[in-house]
Amino acid sequence: MKNPQPSGAAPALSTALANPADLVRAELSAAEDKLTRLLNSNEALIGEICHYLVAGAGKRLRPLFILLIYRACGGPDGKIDDAIDAAIALELIHSATLLHDDIIDGGLLRRGKPSAFARYGFAPALVAGDFLFCRAFELCGRFEERLVRVAAQACIELTEGEVMESRMRQAGGATLENYLGVIRRKTASLFAAGGRVAADLAGVDSETVAAMDRLGQAFGLAFQMVDDLLDVIGPEEKIGKPVGSDLRAGVLSLPVVLACANHGQEPRDFHPGAALDGPAFERALALMRDPALLERGRGLAAEQMRTARALLARLGASPYRDALATLIDEQIDRDF
Ligand code: IPE
Ligand code: IPE
Ligand code: MG
Ligand code: MG
Repeated sequence: MKNPQPSGAAPALSTALANPADLVRAELSAAEDKLTRLLNSNEALIGEICHYLVAGAGKRLRPLFILLIYRACGGPDGKIDDAIDAAIALELIHSATLLHDDIIDGGLLRRGKPSAFARYGFAPALVAGDFLFCRAFELCGRFEERLVRVAAQACIELTEGEVMESRMRQAGGATLENYLGVIRRKTASLFAAGGRVAADLAGVDSETVAAMDRLGQAFGLAFQMVDDLLDVIGPEEKIGKPVGSDLRAGVLSLPVVLACANHGQEPRDFHPGAALDGPAFERALALMRDPALLERGRGLAAEQMRTARALLARLGASPYRDALATLIDEQIDRDF
């Protein structure tokens, strides 16, 4: 791939604070082009499903996060193609998990339209997810072994996180600790891997690489907590799926765990699997929307964001570091 226009010459600080993505516009656009090409398959149905899910939709938060970390760590223009490929690989892996997650959760709406599972069915959505995982490893297979291992480990954790969540849901009585263990695997592992790979590619020392891994983990934990709160807050037009989808499907989410801690009840009292519907669903939803509970949830997410913020101090001052600070801060108030 050709190098995009280097974004190296530092834009003014005010630009960085306005929209973190502005600093890596050229890199994001190069990533988008290549990502779109990688969705093609010799089997038309696979290509159709992948384009249906990925093309033109999604916040592309993981590519943005990786590219900003790479630049904030002083990553040179000479290796920007590697950082872009890493960003694409993570978005491919993320997309694969969305396809599989909607099968697991019975999610019928994704990104404001019928999910691939709803539209194409179980088997095609499953295989398209596998295809995207393979595309990711095809892309980063040329990286040094330790980097490929980081990506593979993140995929292992994602898978284990999804299964762990189902197991805890069925067992009942999940605690906040259990919940944190689940989301560390199912969501934060990918951001942690992104932080580590981007810093490693940028060539910083091993302590800084480890710090960017921890930063990604804290960012990912906070991100999933906010996602869980948005599920009960809504509205549907903003979150792209019906309010209370997680609750209805019995997902072990932050409001559920907090409500259980408050009321001393087990998750199954709130949502006996997918069967929670009608007045029982409405009652549970009202419980989860208790302002004090939502505030406690926000407080837990903010704690992780402070951890992520503090880790930025390891990096030298730059507009990219400022943009990362903005990106971290704005997660707490995001509304989709
Ligand atoms: C959704 O992630 C799944 C979670 C880990 C919460 P995003 O909210 O990043 O999904 P898109 O890519 O923007 O649709
Ligand atoms: C997100 O789990 C974790 C993934 C790895 C996809 P959720 O079940 O909370 O995600 P949404 O809310 O369906 O996007
Ligand atoms: Mg899920
Ligand atoms: Mg889901």
